[in-house]
Amino acid sequence: MKKRCSIIRNALLILLLLGRLSASSQISSLHNLMPVPRELKTEGTHFGIPQNFRISVTGSPDPRLYTEASRFIRRLGERTGIFLDKQGWVSRQDNDPSAPLLIKVTRPGRLKLYEDETYSVDVKEQQIIIVAPTDLGAIHGMETLLQLLSTDEEGYYFPGVSIKDGPRFAWRGLLLDVALHFMPVEVIKRTLDGMAAVKLNVLHLHLCNDQGFRVESKVFPQLQLRASDGLYYSQEDIREIIRYAGQRGIRVVPEFVVPAHTTAILTAFPELASVKRKYTLQRLFGVFDPVLDPTNEKVYVFLDKLFTEMAHLFPDAYFHIGGDENTGKDWESNPKIRAYMKARGMKNTMDLQTAFNKRILPILQKNGKTMMGWDEILQPGLPKNIVIESWRGKEAFYSSLKKGYRAILSNGYYIDLIQPASFHYLNDPAPDSVTLSPEEISRILGGEATMWSEMVTPETVDSRIWPRTAAIAERLWSPREIKDTDDMYRRLDIISLQLEALGLRHESFKPEMMRRLANGYDTKALEVLVSVIEPLKIYERNQGDTMYSVFSPFTKIADLATPDPPLPRIFRREVDLFLKDPGPGAEKSITEQLLIWKDNHAHFMETVRSSPELQEAVSLSENLSRLAAAGLAAMEMIHNKKKANGEWLAEQLAITAGASEQGGRCELQVVNPIEKLIKAAAGDNGQ
Ligand code: ACM
Repeated sequence: MKKRCSIIRNALLILLLLGRLSASSQISSLHNLMPVPRELKTEGTHFGIPQNFRISVTGSPDPRLYTEASRFIRRLGERTGIFLDKQGWVSRQDNDPSAPLLIKVTRPGRLKLYEDETYSVDVKEQQIIIVAPTDLGAIHGMETLLQLLSTDEEGYYFPGVSIKDGPRFAWRGLLLDVALHFMPVEVIKRTLDGMAAVKLNVLHLHLCNDQGFRVESKVFPQLQLRASDGLYYSQEDIREIIRYAGQRGIRVVPEFVVPAHTTAILTAFPELASVKRKYTLQRLFGVFDPVLDPTNEKVYVFLDKLFTEMAHLFPDAYFHIGGDENTGKDWESNPKIRAYMKARGMKNTMDLQTAFNKRILPILQKNGKTMMGWDEILQPGLPKNIVIESWRGKEAFYSSLKKGYRAILSNGYYIDLIQPASFHYLNDPAPDSVTLSPEEISRILGGEATMWSEMVTPETVDSRIWPRTAAIAERLWSPREIKDTDDMYRRLDIISLQLEALGLRHESFKPEMMRRLANGYDTKALEVLVSVIEPLKIYERNQGDTMYSVFSPFTKIADLATPDPPLPRIFRREVDLFLKDPGPGAEKSITEQLLIWKDNHAHFMETVRSSPELQEAVSLSENLSRLAAAGLAAMEMIHNKKKANGEWLAEQLAITAGASEQGGRCELQVVNPIEKLIKAAAGDNGQ
């Protein structure tokens, strides 16, 4: 029973209907690469994949390359259906320079910042050659090659190309928050597979927060016992995650946030708190007052032991101490802490936090680590070799660079905020609108997408990360000039399918969740509705009378809905083209689509009868139907060249205004194009 995601299928069908894309160009276009390489020349030849396809490796790679090369063969077999099992696995003995795929590597790659990740791929008719100074570059080259896979009537092939490639930025990360909602190891592993496919190279694990401490400590077992709900990684799990990431050329950077966001730590060790009260794990999400007491020497003894243990567990040279969102209230309300600040001439709680950071610094330094933190740690008095991660705005980012600090941009890459891929894509760490000196630019390490997990569970997290993170990966890898959003979306839809083939569940979770929500197998009406809605953006989902907590059900229509769905995007584009140049083909497909939406409501109400949980989406479905009816009326007037009067226009605009209201913490994404049709019918073609 093979049920492919029919929403994407519908979207692709619509693309086909609209004549914008032929089935073969979906697969055979040469430029489906994401991220786009630095340099690509086409050769006009083909490398057809032979049954005896083999890989040889020459030079001195890290052994990880043999495993990755074997994985390449397995993935190629799975993508093509060709039995490529002749070679077995790729071993050191496979060093025949005439093998169909020859990989030449000079030296083992090291998992460290600024390691050489460049590579070249040359696809000739008889042989493919990947050349890279390190195996990390060669791994990127294999991912590029897999993305090049094309088809024609005769079968699968790699198109003849010559690619020279390397990253624009050295730090291309994804933050995965496993503290607010715990993510099992298998979720992390598939996330790492997706990251490798789009050449991201840093997994930033946010490992503790007010809701839980997620790593086993052998020094302080109270942490996992009292501060984790039983949901934590054993040290063996962590080693396995690091091994798996390293196998794909990805570094793992841990974040242990201090001094605030420490309710979990204080649940296990209340004596380290700034205010004496009963501490229990936080269930809600937000910014809370509990904070370590920086005037208590026991805090530093504790952090010395804990961070030393964690510094050994996580081999990366960078160690993130968070540092964000300290309200300072628990410090100000404690007379002893106030007196401490006064005695040392500290003007505010930021000064106290900087003094605290200065005590943490030598703990990390003696463990060979470079300190990094959110932009709150950018205060006078810390050495220039710490790294600032900017989240609140660009000012802190540029100010860090200008002050001589190295910095990572996360502001604009908050994928938990449900913003469109195009928004993240155009968020450049060094846009041409900002004047930065070459030294300042050289201090930009890169960027990180941030997957904060307030509103996601292991079931839905993939759909918030993918495919949009591939667009961020391109921003951080490809030349700055690559910024055509239409072309990005064209490639994103293709990459999304490839990510799915890696086991990512950003599409495949939907049919399951729909059946559960519908309480049955007939999910068609729900599917039609879900294909045109998005969850509320920014932090609006968790406002008003809804207060989500760690144990809330994240199985609602707002969880099923995904950011930046393809169908509204395709529909918007089609309407714009139609209004510029009305033609019968576009008119037919827009009308057919509007009819589906108009008629869907009656079917949706059938579904709701067996699903009380879907009651909250009735207004959305009704609005979609009314909106589509208004759109159909507009199409008819446009067709008949009949100009609508002001009264009609006002009535229809009342419908579009009503359709902008949220329902089930979601909003319709097709209001704007239908409003354009309505205005055009009234003679206003101003777009
Ligand atoms: C953050 O989002 N509080 C770093």
